[in-house]
Amino acid sequence: MTRKIKIFDTTLRDGEQSPGASMNTEEKLVVTRELLRMNVDVIEAGFPISSPGDFESVRRIAELAGDNAIVCGLTRAVDKDIDCAADALKYAKHPRIHTGLGVSPSHIHDKLHMTEDEVVERAAHCVAYAKKYVDDVEFYAEDAGRSDYDFLVRVIQAAVDAGATVVNIPDTTGYSLPIEFGRRIKYLRDNVKGIENVDISVHCHNDLGMATALALEGVRNGATQIECTINGLGERAGNTAVEEVVMAIKMHGKELDAHTDINTREFVKASHLITTITGMGVQANKAIVGANAFAHSSGIHQDGVLKKRDTYEIIDPADVGAGESKIILTARSGHAALKHRLEELGYEFSPEKLDKLYEAFLNIADKKKEVYDEDLESLVNEHDRNETAIYALEAVQVSCGYPLTPTATVTMKHKDDEPVTTCAFGTGPVDAAYKAVDNIVKVQNDLSEFSVQAVTRGIDALGEVTVRVKAENGEVYIGRGADNDIIVSSTKAYINALNRLIADQGIDAK
Ligand code: KIV
Ligand code: ZN
Repeated sequence: MTRKIKIFDTTLRDGEQSPGASMNTEEKLVVTRELLRMNVDVIEAGFPISSPGDFESVRRIAELAGDNAIVCGLTRAVDKDIDCAADALKYAKHPRIHTGLGVSPSHIHDKLHMTEDEVVERAAHCVAYAKKYVDDVEFYAEDAGRSDYDFLVRVIQAAVDAGATVVNIPDTTGYSLPIEFGRRIKYLRDNVKGIENVDISVHCHNDLGMATALALEGVRNGATQIECTINGLGERAGNTAVEEVVMAIKMHGKELDAHTDINTREFVKASHLITTITGMGVQANKAIVGANAFAHSSGIHQDGVLKKRDTYEIIDPADVGAGESKIILTARSGHAALKHRLEELGYEFSPEKLDKLYEAFLNIADKKKEVYDEDLESLVNEHDRNETAIYALEAVQVSCGYPLTPTATVTMKHKDDEPVTTCAFGTGPVDAAYKAVDNIVKVQNDLSEFSVQAVTRGIDALGEVTVRVKAENGEVYIGRGADNDIIVSSTKAYINALNRLIADQGIDAK
């Protein structure tokens, strides 16, 4: 059996420190329920002395978590902070006080204005003081990533001797290289007496984009707890992302001699929850939970994934609650992807028809970033209309605007004849195009309805036009047309209605 790595979630404390990510108590309780579903080992619920709101949140989260997780409150190495945290945690089934102070030269001299000896003494004092209230005391050595190795050993030794159950080694500024951070953890393991009886925790920030790598290197060198947040939320560039570090351990458990007890199927839901509550979304290409994490857009990749998912995917999307892999239809998609999606939508076509549809698909895809299912439906319908058409539109061009007279030039082809081009003026560009069509298709009719609808979202959406034309005998014919260009879809819709009228009434419209 591999080592169990405890997951200490600090979304509600370090995550909440992220500018713009503050949450009220009710929202924190919603997040707590999600953390419990994820089965995290420790929930850092807040910094009780920082505000009455934070105190109340820690108190309510402690009650809610009950037996299901350790609930932790942060303090400075100050007695009144520890008193306050103990008070907030008094109803917790498994309370933990997380106390500590800075240990790097910059923190000791420029922030705390203390001597090294005073820091060691304060470390021992705060742990012993917290121990009066709770058995489980975690000591953090802030900015350990930039501290002197031997001084860090002295401080951590003092904390362990005073009864700390967990020693947290943060790379507070995200400064370290993973290899160096790992070496530091190993140095502590080799030099602090009794460290084998406590958990070594790693708390890494993402200032150089390496928070996940740092935490993993810590684990490889003996850490047994990782501090992390949903979506990597946290101060500045954030913390280690829980979804990344846990999935990396899941993939490489053997090499790391590690496993976690996290329910990874909650990851996408948890990510969306944090986005909804904080308004801070993740980028589309974010590992594990980004919108594109399981989306394939290039033809070569799509072909591979459709043959066997793991040609381009190392994680089954269902394992992180992301549903299924997504094939994104774009101008780079091949026949295989189009065929697959059309089949999923319930269409089956001959190879010849598929070739024609693929051409029409590329036409749309060249104009749009992404081709959606609705576009495909529209494309298939459009294709069917053209197949049976008596008259087909070959080209339409309009010029209009203030103070121009709207003019349209239309080229159309009767199924048995050569193409014909004509032009006309109108009250607007659609009217001009319809008049040009009327120059070619000579059939009496009355346009009784005209409506436009966007088929999908976005400025580049296909516009679908529906028209109703009334024949001389009062019969009404509906026509539809779809295109990115509204003038083109309008013209196609009109021609479609006229084709139906001509076919139904057996009129010679030449
Ligand atoms: O980054 C850090 O050092 C911290 C400590 C308070 C644990 O958040
Ligand atoms: Zn931090």
